[in-house]
Amino acid sequence: MTERDSLRRTFLGIGLDDATRDLLAAHLEAHLLGGVPGNPVPPSNWHVTLRFLGMATDLQLDRLLYEMGEGGLPGPWRVRFEGLGAFPRSSRATVLWLGVAGGTDELAALASACEEAAVAAGFAAEDRPFHAHLTLSRIRPSLDVEPVTASLPPFDVAMPVTEVTLYESHLGRGGARYEAIERMAL
Ligand code: 2AM
Repeated sequence: MTERDSLRRTFLGIGLDDATRDLLAAHLEAHLLGGVPGNPVPPSNWHVTLRFLGMATDLQLDRLLYEMGEGGLPGPWRVRFEGLGAFPRSSRATVLWLGVAGGTDELAALASACEEAAVAAGFAAEDRPFHAHLTLSRIRPSLDVEPVTASLPPFDVAMPVTEVTLYESHLGRGGARYEAIERMAL
């Protein structure tokens, strides 16, 4: 196996700028009843996943980046983060997330452009519908997070979306570390 054949665990996503991350982190810290439950994602790792790619070679990633350049990408625009939610549901949550309430049409269009580029580059089609969210915590075993989600006073934080990032996810004992390996301006 040559170096270009080695596999990286990758995904396309939107990172947070420092100001937005700090604002959201401060709001959660100040108001969330009992803190973030489960296994919190550190704010430095916060992102919105557009398309999980899984294990890929550099050659596949080059092809994907080429296809992303060929397709028309929407933007730039602003997204608004608002409210908390959970997968699969609040009463038995395994993932606690921050919702996206504004700029969602553009976000869905961007996710769909990523999907088209991925398929054109030879990745298997994603069969799950896109659900814009920012994962705050992974919870095992599942928990009823309704009291937690209800404890958060309303907030509304807008952030400009100016680029899509191709991330490599390095899994380790201390948790995942996400490395931006390519940034595409919108
Ligand atoms: P998440 O946004 O819901 O947390 C990097 O691992 C990102 O890719 C995570 O943020 C995660 O989604 C998403 N992800 C991880 N494994 C996945 C999988 N098997 N299918 C789809 N998305 C996945």
